[in-house]
Amino acid sequence: MCGIVGYAGTAPAQGISSSPNQRALEVLVEGLRRLEYRGYDSAGVAVVGAAGLEMRKKSGKLAMLLEELESNPLPDASTGIGHTRWATHGGPTDANAHPHIVDGDALAVVHNGIIENYAALKSELLARGHSFKSETDTEIAATLLGDIYSRLADSTPAEGRLSKAMQQVAQRLEGAFTLVATHAEEPGVVVAARRNSPLVVGLGDGENFLGSDVSGFIDYTRRAVELGQDQVVTITADKVEITDFFGAPGEGREYLVDWDAAAAEKGGYPSFMEKEINDQPDAVAQTLLGRSDADGNLTLDEIRVDPSVLKNIDRIIVLACGTSAYAGQVARYAIEHWCRIPTEVELSHEFRYRDPIVDENTLIVSISQSGETMDTLMAVRYAREQGAKTVAICNTNGSTIPRESDAVLYTHAGPEIAVASTKAFLAQITAAYLLGLYLAQLRGNLFQGQIKDILAELAKTPAKIATVLENADQIKELARSMADTRSVLFLGRHVGYPVAMEGALKLKELAYIHAEGFAAGELKHGPIALIEEGQPVIVVVPSPRGRDSLHSKVVSNIQEVRARGAKTIVIAEEGDESVKAYAEHVFYVPETSTLLAPLLTTVPLQIFALELASAKGFDVDQPRNLAKSVTVE
Ligand code: F6R
Repeated sequence: MCGIVGYAGTAPAQGISSSPNQRALEVLVEGLRRLEYRGYDSAGVAVVGAAGLEMRKKSGKLAMLLEELESNPLPDASTGIGHTRWATHGGPTDANAHPHIVDGDALAVVHNGIIENYAALKSELLARGHSFKSETDTEIAATLLGDIYSRLADSTPAEGRLSKAMQQVAQRLEGAFTLVATHAEEPGVVVAARRNSPLVVGLGDGENFLGSDVSGFIDYTRRAVELGQDQVVTITADKVEITDFFGAPGEGREYLVDWDAAAAEKGGYPSFMEKEINDQPDAVAQTLLGRSDADGNLTLDEIRVDPSVLKNIDRIIVLACGTSAYAGQVARYAIEHWCRIPTEVELSHEFRYRDPIVDENTLIVSISQSGETMDTLMAVRYAREQGAKTVAICNTNGSTIPRESDAVLYTHAGPEIAVASTKAFLAQITAAYLLGLYLAQLRGNLFQGQIKDILAELAKTPAKIATVLENADQIKELARSMADTRSVLFLGRHVGYPVAMEGALKLKELAYIHAEGFAAGELKHGPIALIEEGQPVIVVVPSPRGRDSLHSKVVSNIQEVRARGAKTIVIAEEGDESVKAYAEHVFYVPETSTLLAPLLTTVPLQIFALELASAKGFDVDQPRNLAKSVTVE
């Protein structure tokens, strides 16, 4: 939610890019392009060069800013900051766009997060004679920074003043923030503070970077530094200094990003979403890689929670939001079945505020693609305070949730750029299965042979997902023919239920169509009233080879909606002839066990949403009102 970039390079005259004097702008724009998925209500940049500080900003997508830069170019510069916004305080206007410029046009500030005590700070600043041009909390933080900066002028030399002022501001702010600033009086310096909001440092050669995540500088370096909570960082071309909010020296964890810029490109696909759907065989394969030994036995060294503690847990609570919560719901069926540990799945924001009962025998499993979702972070913190052990399933190295958890199981899906999650979902389910098997192994609930059999079956799923992708023409055609549809219902039972909800979420997000996912068994308890002639209903049917009653119950549900005029579209297992009589369209996926089926049945639903939204002419990578990585509560 909001993307931030910062850059400090060599002075313009000794610039190091092919067009040396525009290096800062080039880096900032490229970083914003890669971070645009975090918000696209407005974009802006500010640079500091020989001529002082200059800024350009525009409401709308980054393309609008680029047009502005074309007609109104920025001067040469070695330092700068940039921002792409998802609006919180104040609508998506030019005035509310970042950077905010204060202190006699000398100080530029960008911000991600929500400053909760903005009203009190605003009154204080108004009383001191300041005025405001925007409706944002950012301008208040910027004005406070400018106010403190100019008051420090008498006592502090220019060098280091911005860092000192930032520390003092950070002490005063409540809420979540990443605040990044550059000042004309300290050319070559960018300073940032973070609390409960992401920021990563990129280490270059004669230049250093800041980004909300590593994609903000992945074109220039893979060396990154993960910052801790409540830290201030100052970057120049050749230095990175980290302190706490009171100026005491601090440290970050340096790591090498395990993907490169090419992985964050569309790779010939028309959209990131389509690429990421097609990446899914790899995403699952990479998540399984290195997690079993040559004999096929499970090895999860990264679960660094004392095995004796894990043996004693009497309850698992999975915490997540959105698509990640549906991954948790799928995982719950497997974990309970394999481990015999009561497992609940709860939306992080609901869990946090209901005074839940959690103790040292509770294992919290958080699932988050970004590792930055504020609701999930807060829920994990709360659970830890109550003594629970916490394991994160996460796709983003260097992010906050894994850092604040006892252990992390990374999904290796690679960068997910499209705002709507696809490959991360399958990778999360895969990782959660591995965790379930690990617990079952540790607690002796499954025999080694059983675990090996499940792992062997999991190892076959990437090829099966590839088969689903290869045979997608029919579902694409159907989706395109349904571009005018106003509502689609999704039904599923058992693991098919969260898959149905995920299918509905994808359609809502991408095609802006009313879509609902129901437990098929719940149909007769109300939702069946929605069925009228021609209502499309997509049904996820379990394998007929699994628990017999499960399959036949869902087939009965198809008959029930069909009898009331529904247009039935069925996702079923290859060879399941029984559904044909009741379905207008059947899409088959390869055979697999009931518990692993979501890794296959989800894929046609993702493709359906993508194609339908594309047929309507919508931007599938950046759906309206959304942003990836929701870093405010
Ligand atoms: C839906 C989607 C969101 C995220 C949710 C959690 O397509 O992407 O529902 O799944 O915001 O995000 P993470 O997994 O980053 O915590």
